[in-house]
Amino acid sequence: MSSSSPSSRPTSETRLSLSHITAQNDANLLGTVHGGVIMTLVDSVAGVVAARHSGGPAVTASMDEMVFLVPVRVGDVVHFSGQVNWTGRSSMEIGVRITADRWDSVGPQVHVASAYLVFVAVDEDGQPREVPQVVPVTDEDRRRLREAEIRRSHRLARRTAIIASREESAREEAFQDEA
Ligand SMILES: CC(C)(COP(=O)(O)OP(=O)(O)OC[C@H]1O[C@@H](n2cnc3c(N)ncnc32)[C@H](O)[C@@H]1OP(=O)(O)O)[C@@H](O)C(=O)NCCC(=O)NCCS
Repeated sequence: MSSSSPSSRPTSETRLSLSHITAQNDANLLGTVHGGVIMTLVDSVAGVVAARHSGGPAVTASMDEMVFLVPVRVGDVVHFSGQVNWTGRSSMEIGVRITADRWDSVGPQVHVASAYLVFVAVDEDGQPREVPQVVPVTDEDRRRLREAEIRRSHRLARRTAIIASREESAREEAFQDEA
């Protein structure tokens, strides 16, 4: 970590909002907005939050399952609100909430989806580097931190189980080859 990097940073310092007016070139075959367009913008917003929090480059390590609750229609204004929910040694969970204003009505904003991404801060050689610890400011930030810890433990457990399963399969194949 560079000497100018703080050891901690409040959630509020790097929170980011982006709004996008959807257009015809964002549409899928059904005429609603392509999920990939939303996912690209989610990754971009999360990337900016991660870079600002960590004071340098950060790469997307993973993106959790993302459930689209309602379709976005062409012309709707989509809002992305991202913040650091949790920090580890070199990784950060960034949460992005996606809402939309319908282009043809003045109702309440609709909740489109929520996404959780893990970014890893990297140095010039692409190796993980330490990040400042995030300091939650509000009760909502503290709730997000607690829930991010639950997701982190599930990700690690899944990764460990998959590696163990592959190692077990490799051992079985080696045993059958020998037999
Ligand atoms: C992300 C990357 C830098 C991690 O490198 P690595 O050698 O596996 O690093 P480590 O095992 O030391 O893990 C570093 C951190 O990343 C976390 N991490 C690694 N893989 C992860 C995954 N799949 N999901 C969540 N976290 C992950 C580790 O838990 C660790 O966190 P911590 O430092 O906060 O404890 C490396 O896998 C990479 O460069 N991936 C490609 C990223 C990329 O190019 N993204 C854009 C896609 S085009």
